[in-house]
Amino acid sequence: MIKIAPSILSADFMHLGGQVKAVEVPGVDRIQIDVMDGRFVPNITFGPAVVRALRPLTALALEVHLMVEPPEEFIDRFVEAGADTLIVHQESTPHLHRALQHIHSLGKKAGVAINPSTPVSQLGEVLDMLQLILVMTVNPGFGGQEFIPRTLNKLEAVREELIRRRLEIDVEVDGGITPATAPRVVAAGANVLVAGSSVFDVGVSPGEAVRRLLEAALSAAPPRG
Ligand code: DX5
Repeated sequence: MIKIAPSILSADFMHLGGQVKAVEVPGVDRIQIDVMDGRFVPNITFGPAVVRALRPLTALALEVHLMVEPPEEFIDRFVEAGADTLIVHQESTPHLHRALQHIHSLGKKAGVAINPSTPVSQLGEVLDMLQLILVMTVNPGFGGQEFIPRTLNKLEAVREELIRRRLEIDVEVDGGITPATAPRVVAAGANVLVAGSSVFDVGVSPGEAVRRLLEAALSAAPPRG
């Protein structure tokens, strides 16, 4: 089932609660909260306080994308604030296995994000621990960036590896996802499309923007194999 995961990075921060309510529409079961520390990525966004503020407003799953280092220092605080899923970057810690174990010990879902330069083979020892893999289709740090086409090859490699190992987990993509790129990433194997600027900054309501993204994604040819 194809889903859209609106990223609040491009939302109107003056009306964040209303923006989240506006994406409680068909095809959306989660929102993504992009946490950046100005060290792992060249931007700073928000912390646990935003998760705590959003938690009582929505039944959507709160998926926290930790673009921070070391992520281990932040997992507990985001879980206490109300996060449902924690996504850790493979590149952000030498103790990825322990970080994933810790997320699971708190009863939460765990995902790993890989940057454009990171091959899926780097996840070989933890792939079967994951509820999702997030393939970055831009270099993380900002919304509104250009989609990197070569990440389509990696998406196909991810899908082939999941089929080979008989693992059924969400394959998410993040960065430059628009009605033009949506069918391409779905055809390559993605089933969850993170989208910020193409949901909150396109001149139509967020609900209409999600509908257009979903329509484009569902027009894709099914992945091969
Ligand atoms: C990393 C961020 C962005 C954001 C989506 O930079 O994770 O990818 O979520 O940005 P858009 O959809 O505006 O490219």
